[in-house]
Amino acid sequence: MASTKKLRMGMIGGGPGAFIGAVHRTAACLDEEIELVCGVFSSDPEKSYEMGKQLGLAADRVYGTYKEMIEHEQKTKGMDFVAIVTPNHVHYEPAVLALRAGFDVVLDKPMCLSLQEAHELSQLVHDTGRTLCLTHTYTGYPMVKQARQMIARNDLGSIRKVYVEYPQGWLSHAEVNSKQAQWRLDPKRSGPAGCLGDIGVHAFNLAEYITGLQVTHVCADLQTVIAGRQLDDDASVLLRFNNGATGVLMASQICTGEENNLKIRVYGDKGSIEWQHADCNTLAVRWF
Ligand SMILES: NC(=O)c1ccc[n+]([C@@H]2O[C@H](COP(=O)([O-])OP(=O)(O)OC[C@H]3O[C@@H](n4cnc5c(N)ncnc54)[C@H](O)[C@@H]3O)[C@@H](O)[C@H]2O)c1
Repeated sequence: MASTKKLRMGMIGGGPGAFIGAVHRTAACLDEEIELVCGVFSSDPEKSYEMGKQLGLAADRVYGTYKEMIEHEQKTKGMDFVAIVTPNHVHYEPAVLALRAGFDVVLDKPMCLSLQEAHELSQLVHDTGRTLCLTHTYTGYPMVKQARQMIARNDLGSIRKVYVEYPQGWLSHAEVNSKQAQWRLDPKRSGPAGCLGDIGVHAFNLAEYITGLQVTHVCADLQTVIAGRQLDDDASVLLRFNNGATGVLMASQICTGEENNLKIRVYGDKGSIEWQHADCNTLAVRWF
């Protein structure tokens, strides 16, 4: 019998004008198994309290900093897990504090700013026995899961070629200056990768998730197309997989006119699949 107890979620990030925090809050409520119970929604305490009020949270469950929230929620045992939906430079530290305090963590991609931080988080998950989920959103689509299952049961035969592309156009011009663009174009807050870290990680994850293979080698051409930017806004990458298959990954945010056109094609020796986000309930399957 399904449990009637809802999982109690805390949130770090997702304040006024934020993008993904509100999406998480909506998604978390869809199956009525999760409720938002507390949060720190901004690095500015005033904005955090204002957001908490708007969301109908009790005043004593809205915090000014994530340290305060994790410490208090650990003492009172009022939260089951925390969703971290802050810019990339505020992923590692709150995740470490939450895991150490005994909480499971839903962490937005990209995981953190360096391989060393990723190894440390992985070790901490191992040591604490907690769960850390990375939100590679596109693996949730039914046709993506269908494709993965078909490849796992060898319907397509041996996989030999993967093409995955993720063009967006919202950073096609220098004038873009939204809240979301500001930190994504700043290496201190975005990390050492621009477009590759922001959307390339989704394409990479999708290629590995659908095929069940692992990328072992890459050869990348990273470009900064818009003058004055410090990070890549366009990436073309050759891939080699652990079964010998090869592939091409394209991720770009300067593809004028594109919204969010993630697409993957996988070719085996018996058949192939094609899926795209713009037509997410269709999976094209072709046979030899
Ligand atoms: N899974 C996906 O498909 C997906 C999509 C978009 C964004 N993301 C990821 O989500 C994260 C947030 O992206 P966004 O576009 O929503 O950014 P955003 O700038 O719209 O929102 C970030 C929020 O975090 C808050 N914040 C910043 N520092 C904080 C702190 N110290 N304590 C509490 N709150 C703080 C900001 O005030 C803001 O409300 C990024 O890591 C991004 O890569 C994932």
